[in-house]
Amino acid sequence: MDEHVDQQARQHVLAALAAQPKQAIDDDSTAFLRRFDEHFPELCRLFHSLYGPQNDWLDQLTHLVLEAAGSWQERPTDLKAVDAATEANGGWFLSNSMLGGVCYVDRYAGNLDGVHAKIPYFKELGLTYLHLMPLFLAPEPHSDGGYAVSSYREVNPALGSMEQLRALAADLRANGISLVVDFIFNHTSDEHDWARKAAAGDPEYSDYYWIFPDRTMPDAFEQHVREIFPDDHPGSFVPTPDGRWVWATFHSFQWDLNYSNPAVFRAMAREMLFLANQGIDILRMDAVAFIWKQLGTTSENLPEAHTLLQAFNAVCRLAAPSLLFKSEAIVHPDEVARYIDPGECQLSYNPLQMALIWDALATRDASLLAQALQRRHTIPDGTTWVNYVRSHDDIGWTFADEDATELSVNGFDHRKFLNSFYVNRFPGSFARGVPFQDNPRTGDCRISGTTASLCGLEHDEVPAVERILLAHSIIFSTGGVPLLYLGDEVGQLNDNQYMFEDGHSADSRWVHRPRFPADSYAQRHDASTSAGTIYAGLRRMIRVRAASPELAGTRLIDFATGNRSVLGYQRPGANSTILVLANFSDTPQTVESLTLSGFAPDVVNILDDVALRLDRGITLAPRGYVWLRVRPQ
Ligand code: GLC
Ligand code: GLC
Repeated sequence: MDEHVDQQARQHVLAALAAQPKQAIDDDSTAFLRRFDEHFPELCRLFHSLYGPQNDWLDQLTHLVLEAAGSWQERPTDLKAVDAATEANGGWFLSNSMLGGVCYVDRYAGNLDGVHAKIPYFKELGLTYLHLMPLFLAPEPHSDGGYAVSSYREVNPALGSMEQLRALAADLRANGISLVVDFIFNHTSDEHDWARKAAAGDPEYSDYYWIFPDRTMPDAFEQHVREIFPDDHPGSFVPTPDGRWVWATFHSFQWDLNYSNPAVFRAMAREMLFLANQGIDILRMDAVAFIWKQLGTTSENLPEAHTLLQAFNAVCRLAAPSLLFKSEAIVHPDEVARYIDPGECQLSYNPLQMALIWDALATRDASLLAQALQRRHTIPDGTTWVNYVRSHDDIGWTFADEDATELSVNGFDHRKFLNSFYVNRFPGSFARGVPFQDNPRTGDCRISGTTASLCGLEHDEVPAVERILLAHSIIFSTGGVPLLYLGDEVGQLNDNQYMFEDGHSADSRWVHRPRFPADSYAQRHDASTSAGTIYAGLRRMIRVRAASPELAGTRLIDFATGNRSVLGYQRPGANSTILVLANFSDTPQTVESLTLSGFAPDVVNILDDVALRLDRGITLAPRGYVWLRVRPQ
């Protein structure tokens, strides 16, 4: 965009700001204007690139900035203090004491008061980040676990109120825990006010969605788009009550928003800032890959999806400067990486690492995981991974076929193997998962299961506990925020009764979303139980990680162990390095002294404080791992 347009836009917006009624607190408006000076050029460039061809783009942009200014005025003083504090310590989320936990409010704690009552436990565990699964008003019983939002400003009354959410955010913060909630901005539920108006034929709100009068455009789009929930409906469009067709990437009751309409961007920016002002620290940006559509393309990961995220980010910099974004892109690793940037999403799930941990456990071969760490772990300064073993969603095998080919692995066949292994259709498999969205037409399938059940805890106790700890030892040490699915730290098993719950029978992901496992939690300090062993093992890693500055940030240097079953990598610090070695096989494995000869021979395994000598080689127990503090020779 040329400088002239930028200057004109700036003048136009400034004049509109000046025409606003005199703002109450002058200091605060000065702060807004300072940030306006800094960030408006970027916002203007992004907005113009999305909406420039539309006649009213400048009007829309002006309103957007006025709305941001209004939101800043309403931002509570304590949150403005958080903004000021983060300005001074922008990299807080890169610290090695960060530890995430995720749970459903109702299933884990009943309601928001119940979550509040768990704060002492969160502190015992060491949490600094709590992701509460979607808790907004949603259609019942079909809400995709809350991912169909009917109002971003109302908490589901079964869970509590917005006031309680605000109070919880403040109490969590006072206890050193940041609150993360979803920003489900690709779609709303069909019960959202906008969707109801659209369904009733209101043209303004029909333009909020991708609605077409007949099948012509849907058929054209569907030539190129992927089916995400084929069990629910084929293709991407579903009929509206009046016989039109609306885009629904996920379930038929989740209608995709039309971001080619600037009014939609503005409306969602208002909802985003509203959430920010409730005290949310990090928004989990749901389904980022799908937010921009274009005929003739897959309508996934388009360049405009990035522009949109950057534009939302620029809005935050104006009106909720401490707010961060976490990207949820479960797609090809090249595409995952493109969302990660200080100006776009500062945090991102690491679905590749997650999937390849399971790959290494199944194959007892760490090659694909080692390759991923070597070539796909590096992300820009000021950003971080969110590393996890599993989430509330299914596990899909999103490694790059081209990476696998280099290791003589055929991607299609290997996915088939992993699916059959984890749903226990492969002879000798330890896993007790179940299939998700088995699509015989495309051969596509993903899997569901809790960490413990995927590791086989129900029938193979000792090795399963070791697998659970091994998997977590990776997410705790590769670099990034480790995120626990709460309940996994005490080995919760699959909920095989999930299909008897209203609205859940057709979605096997509910198998791994069990209710709070009270009995297992009661055993967590009892070392004779599997829950106690897992809990103690994880707590040790959490403690050691928080005390090891080398494990901050995401910098990682690969380390070739010369043994396909043993994964190795180095986490360099200022004066020393942590060398991680992890054995994915069921037999003892040795890393030879020659391989380790670049380091001084006397080292300590920081996980148990035991001194070891590298000049004798390191032999790891089956499924064993060490975190060695090493120095160069
Ligand atoms: C995300 C959520 C998933 C949900 C989908 C649609 O991928 O993680 O649970 O089904 O978005 O909102
Ligand atoms: C949701 C689904 C997952 C799908 C993803 C695409 O997370 O659960 O299976 O691959 O959306 O982003």
